[in-house]
Formats: sequence, structure tokens, C-alpha cells
Amino acid sequence: MTLLKALESRLSSALQQVLGEASPAHVTPAADLRFGDYQSNAAMVLAREKAKSAPPAQKTNPRALAQQIIDAIDLSGLATAEIAGPGFINFRILPEAYAAHVKKLLGDDQLGVPAVGQGQTVVIDFSAPNVAKPMHVGHIRSTIIGDSLCRIARFLGFRVIADNHIGDWGTQFGMILHGWKTALDSQALQADPIPELLRLYREVNAATKQNPAILEACKAELVKLQAGDEQNLEIWKQCIELSKQGLQRIYDQLDVSFDHWLGESSYNERLPSLVEELLEKGIARESEGAVCIFSDGKKIPEEDPFKIHKQDGWMDNPAIVRKADGGFLYATTDLATIEHRIDEWNADQIWYVVGVPQQLHFRQLFDAAERWGKNGNFRHVAFGSILGEDRKLMKTRSGDNVQLADVLDEAVERAAKIITEKNPALPAEEAAQAAKTIGIGAVKFAELSQGRLTDYVFAWDRMLALQGDTAPYLQYSSVRIRSIFRKLEQKLETATTEIVLHAPEEIHLARLHARFGEVLPSTLDDFKPNLLANYLLELARAFHSFFEACPVLKSDEPLRSSRLALCELSARILETGLGLLGIKCPERM
Ligand code: ARG
Repeated sequence: MTLLKALESRLSSALQQVLGEASPAHVTPAADLRFGDYQSNAAMVLAREKAKSAPPAQKTNPRALAQQIIDAIDLSGLATAEIAGPGFINFRILPEAYAAHVKKLLGDDQLGVPAVGQGQTVVIDFSAPNVAKPMHVGHIRSTIIGDSLCRIARFLGFRVIADNHIGDWGTQFGMILHGWKTALDSQALQADPIPELLRLYREVNAATKQNPAILEACKAELVKLQAGDEQNLEIWKQCIELSKQGLQRIYDQLDVSFDHWLGESSYNERLPSLVEELLEKGIARESEGAVCIFSDGKKIPEEDPFKIHKQDGWMDNPAIVRKADGGFLYATTDLATIEHRIDEWNADQIWYVVGVPQQLHFRQLFDAAERWGKNGNFRHVAFGSILGEDRKLMKTRSGDNVQLADVLDEAVERAAKIITEKNPALPAEEAAQAAKTIGIGAVKFAELSQGRLTDYVFAWDRMLALQGDTAPYLQYSSVRIRSIFRKLEQKLETATTEIVLHAPEEIHLARLHARFGEVLPSTLDDFKPNLLANYLLELARAFHSFFEACPVLKSDEPLRSSRLALCELSARILETGLGLLGIKCPERM
């Protein structure tokens, strides 16, 4: 049990005693450590509540109620309590309680993290680039945030299904097919497929703007593909295969993996009957030859995704599921995808890690799915844009979108330079490996330490700094701790170590150890891996202050072993936490 939960349970018994009935006993980490470790505003909330039902003469004073609670609460072996301000109760955890908690954590593979996801299946839809187009840095956000959410949810006990819903059936294939037949450079394709497919797409796309005949030719290729033309299907399959290989290379570099790659095309067969079903059930209807989903009128217009406010007031804002020419759309495929995830995979929740611009699509999708009887506890985990150092959308010098593969290569190159400067003695192979770990880690941490909804500026020097709120700083902290253990003549037996906490730096470090099991579940409340990232920075800072103030190897027993155990636990939490952000630690750097 976390210390926070332990306090809540003791508080809840006290409330039962004082009020004679079960009442919510909420405890939060203290905002200011000078006043304690945790606090509760239960007395204020309950006093307010009582005031609503009681005559004014019997008004309950929140401070008096807080005092009654403190008199009743049994905090033995755990904490002390104090009233503050208008009726807050502040709790200070006893050093021996921290010591006992640290001891428990040392023997716990889960490091005190509760399995809050046990018995729940969550599908996480992330990355999902469009095939035959390169992943750009915008996809980096989805890939890195989504991967971290997968890791965190798994650690919390969820059954996680990572699904890469790639865009493998879009209109871009008309152009690719035309380019493939008229301008393919097979050698370039074999060497590196994604840039060649991109070249075809770009050149044909430009040509269609000059020459309407080419546009028609592309449309004809697309129609043939969709009608099942064998040659076009064969080319399409090759494109998908080659693109997947190219993508896989990037995922390998990022250490990201999926349980499934069920792209849009996986659902093609289901689409005609799905639209019929929506028509039969009255969820969709025909409009100007197309089939559309309109509002069912059950929500106020402000909350209705099928209504939009224009000059003349609220207008319909339907989602098309079948075009007048018979073609299906993004939303149709997404409905089929939801059905598959709920019916075949038993998804209790589905999280979509996709940028802010698709907000309307997801609001409409979730609303339509629920009307269709598919309730998947849907969440759109949206994120903002990545900006260049000029605070504009990140572009290359020629004005193109920056490509993810190039960013990753540059990160590794820059990290390699730093390592050669700092530690020229490191053997070449180890240095190359460390450069990968540090370069990729820096990019991931820069992403994950930001609030996901804000736009963030991609600044190389800042993300690679050894001193700062960066991955290299955290990796360096773990390397430093591990180096203490290298000096040790024999292995530390933490299971039997006595933990003694005296110095304020020791107590503060233990406090942060205990917080891991509280912080991690909270990252999923609003899908904020940055809470974990910031916690890890705090932990590393606490470790360095401890290490400066408290000699470890040079102190006498039992302090020496106790402090070594604190070091060991710090390293384990740091490495586990970084691992949940998808970041590894090098042995040396
Ligand atoms: N392929 C889409 C894009 O790049 C993202 C797909 C997101 N997932 C989904 N189920 N719609 O914009």
C-alpha cells in the first residue's frame, strides 16, 4: 500500500468514528514540504456539507472538526498530524515509517506501484503514419507518447494491445501507382524504399497540378485498385511491404513495438455492410446521394459534434460514411476498427494518440460509436505541434517537413560528439552504443517532459545538456550511482539491510522513493507522462543532494549499508522510470 493510501485508510476510520458514517477521506501530497508530506481538506469539505443541512446555530467550525478528527485518528507508527489555516490537516510521515517503506520497496519488483489496471484491456492506437509518405516529426509525438503510455499501462497491470493503424488505403495510392508505372527507379527503391516512394508521390502530385490528364490517370489507377485490379493490388502490396520495412527500421531505432499493424485496409471488406447497418438502425441517412451521420438531437448544440455554429446559428455538421460515388471514408474505417477492437479483443478502453487537428473527427466517431452500441471508453489523447527554434512549425531549409529518420540520426551524431569530448577513453564500440542510448533518449525525454497539449520548441542544445532537465542528466545520475557499486568488494544484500534515516537529505530521498507508487498511476488520469518525467528529475536532484551531504562508502555500519540501499533503490527507480518513458541507461558515459 502507498503511504498516501495508508493515510487515507486511517483517516477514513477516524471519520467513521467522529461522524458515525463512512465519508470520503481524501489525502493529497503536500504542496509545500515545510508543512508536512501530505494534507487533507476533509474537515473543510465535511463542515461545508453539514452546514447545508443543519440550522445556522449548529454550524460546524471546520477547525473544530479537524481537531476532533486529529483526536480520533490513529497514526501510530505512520505519521503526526497538525491543523493548519482554515481547517487543513497536515501529515508528516515519521522517519521510521519511511525507513520501513524503503525496506519494503527494496524487496518489491513493482517498487510500490499498485496494479490499478488489473483485469482491464486497453487498446492504444498510436504512431499510425500514412504509408508511402514519410513519417515526419509530428508523428514522433504520437509514437513516443503512445509507446510510453503502453509501457506505463502495462506496468500498472493493464492488458495492453498496441495497434499501429497505418494509413494504407488512402487516395495517395492513385499517385503512387501512376508514378510506379511511369517513373520508378527500382534500384533506389531497393536501397531505401521510403524516399523513393516519397519522390514518386511528390513528383506525380506536382505533375497533377500542371496537367489535368495526369490527375485523371491517377484517379483511374485508384478506381482500378479499389475494384480489385490484380496488377494494381500487386504493386500496392509491394508498397505496403517496403514501407513497413522502412518504418520498422525507425521503430527499431526508437525501440518501439506493436502487437498489431491493422491498417485501414484491414477493414475494407466490412465497410459496405457496416454502412447498411448504420442505415437500418437509423444512425446514418442518405443526403445528396451520400450516406451521412447527423445529430440525434440528444445533446445541447454546444456539446453536439454534429452541430456547428455559423453566422446563421447552429447548422448540421454531418460525418460522411459513404460518398455519392460509393467510396468509403476515414470515419467508416474507424467505426469498423472500433467494432473489431471491442468484439474481438474485448477492449474496455481505447486511447487514440493523435494530434489536436483531428479532434472533431474523434468527437464524431465516439458519439457515433456509442449510438451504434459500441461503448469503448474512448479517449482522444491529443497533442500540440513541434516548433523549430524560430517558433514556427519545424521545416527543413528547403521548406519541407523535417523527417523523423533525419532527426534521429542527428540526435545520435550530436550525442557521439559530446561523449568523445567528455570521455575520450571510452572504447569505440561502447561509445557508439552510448551515443544511441543518449541521443534517442534525449529526443524522447524532450518530448515526454512537456505537457502534451502545448506546442514545444525543438532545441538540440537544451535537450542534450548534461546539466538540466534532460535525459542525459538522468542517465548520468544512474551511471554515477552504478559506479558506486562497482567500487564495492561484495554484493549488497538489501533484503536484510537495516534502514536508518537521520539526515534531512536521507529523509527527502526516501520520501521521493515512496512517491513513485503514487505518481505513476496519476500519469494515466489525464495521460501525462510528463508527471513521471518531472518526478524523475526531482528524484535525481534529491539523490545528488543526498550524495553530497551524506558520505556512503566512507561511513560506518549500519549507516553505510543503509545508504548503499538508498543508492540502490534510487538507481532502480530511476532506471525503471526512464524505462517507462522508453529510455535506456548506458553502463558508462
Ligand atoms: N493515419 C492517420 C494520420 O496520420 C492517423 C490515424 C490515427 N488513428 C485512427 N484510428 N484514426 O493522420
